[in-house]
Amino acid sequence: MIIPIYGTRERIAIADHRPDFAADGQEWRTPPLWGIGLVKNVNKHTFFLHDGRAHNLMEAILWHGGEAQASTEFVQKLSPDERDALVAFLESL
Ligand code: HEM
Repeated sequence: MIIPIYGTRERIAIADHRPDFAADGQEWRTPPLWGIGLVKNVNKHTFFLHDGRAHNLMEAILWHGGEAQASTEFVQKLSPDERDALVAFLESL
């Protein structure tokens, strides 16, 4: 069985090789995305990001900034159908 991870070291933008608690207030651990499609059914909510400020997956993507700003800008240019396909992909993980 193959389980796609979608949370590789390339995506870990923060706190690598640092001792615990050495990330500054602008740095967040990049979470693995596997299983994210199960959050709705298992956790009975769809709040994302470390403080739950995103009400759904698309909001979580559009909140990306800093090193991930290019991803936000890329997604902003997608058509509604392409955005739906991206969310469907995330929900399949
Ligand atoms: C289109 C590309 C991307 C997608 C679809 C995506 C998707 C997501 C999603 C759905 C979350 C919420 C996870 C959760 O709350 O459990 C998330 C969080 C996060 N992503 Fe991405 N991401 C993308 C690109 C990136 C890139 C390029 C970076 C780093 C350079 C990045 C860094 C992070 C970080 C640090 C968090 C946690 C932020 C927080 O908790 O406040 N992401 N991402």
